[in-house]
Amino acid sequence: MKPVRKAVFPVAGLGTRFLPATKAFAKELLPIVDRPLIQYVVDEAREAGIEQMIFVTGRGKVGLEDYFDVAFELETTMKSRGKSLDVLQPTRSNPGSIASVRQQEPLGLGHAVWCARDIVGDEPFAVLLPDDLMVGKPGCIAQMVEAYNKVGGNIICVQEVPKDKTASYGVITPGASDGRLTEVKGLVEKPKPEDAPSNLAVVGRYILQPEVMQVLDEKETGAGGEIQLTDAMAKLIGTQPFHGLTFEGDRHDCGDKTGFVIANIALAMARDDVAPAIRAFVADLR
Ligand code: G1P
Repeated sequence: MKPVRKAVFPVAGLGTRFLPATKAFAKELLPIVDRPLIQYVVDEAREAGIEQMIFVTGRGKVGLEDYFDVAFELETTMKSRGKSLDVLQPTRSNPGSIASVRQQEPLGLGHAVWCARDIVGDEPFAVLLPDDLMVGKPGCIAQMVEAYNKVGGNIICVQEVPKDKTASYGVITPGASDGRLTEVKGLVEKPKPEDAPSNLAVVGRYILQPEVMQVLDEKETGAGGEIQLTDAMAKLIGTQPFHGLTFEGDRHDCGDKTGFVIANIALAMARDDVAPAIRAFVADLR
């Protein structure tokens, strides 16, 4: 079984739900406390032993590449003022470990992943959607890699959602369960509650076999007229092992204003440096 060494980060989205904040920079650079969303997902991938990060970007997103580059002027100025550069440590990356490709048109998540096909090559890979902030120990992708090392094939992260929310997610038809692993018998993108096969939704973490790229080559469109990753994955069911893993930890939907603010409060509350002041403030509210 080939190890999971590469991860694809679809980051071409315009972030219209966060306008005007995202008018002039990538929404993945919005901070949760003092780290941008992209830092959390890249750290999560690194923790799982992933070495090659592939950003699928678009126009106006160069800030994401700059973020993981050496900032010569900033570092020189900080050094000359005797300031420690430790704070920049997480932004350091092995030279060559971050690659980026452009998704030239917003044709869907499946299309975004397909844009990374040549860099992914013939090996399994992870996909991480930065909007989904996953907080757990070990991290979500590390939990999935552990499961992958046991059962192989394709693994998607799943979470129970209220039945009236299924139209926001990919939803699975569950088969047999073994602990936190559930066999995936079917997959459908954004079904109406009355059509949903279950309330087990796909959240933004995947470990996929390279064959999914061949399915995506067909460029079939699905829900919303977009090329859906969910539809391409559905075609692999029955030809390769396919499991859903229920993640042990918390998920914050940072693609949504409410989820984003909640994530800021939740992560601030978990940090010794800022928690006492935030806790006192929140306790005094209402
Ligand atoms: C995407 C996927 C969907 C998945 C969701 C998780 O949808 O298409 O299957 O459930 O991410 O966040 P989006 O949120 O981009 O509409």
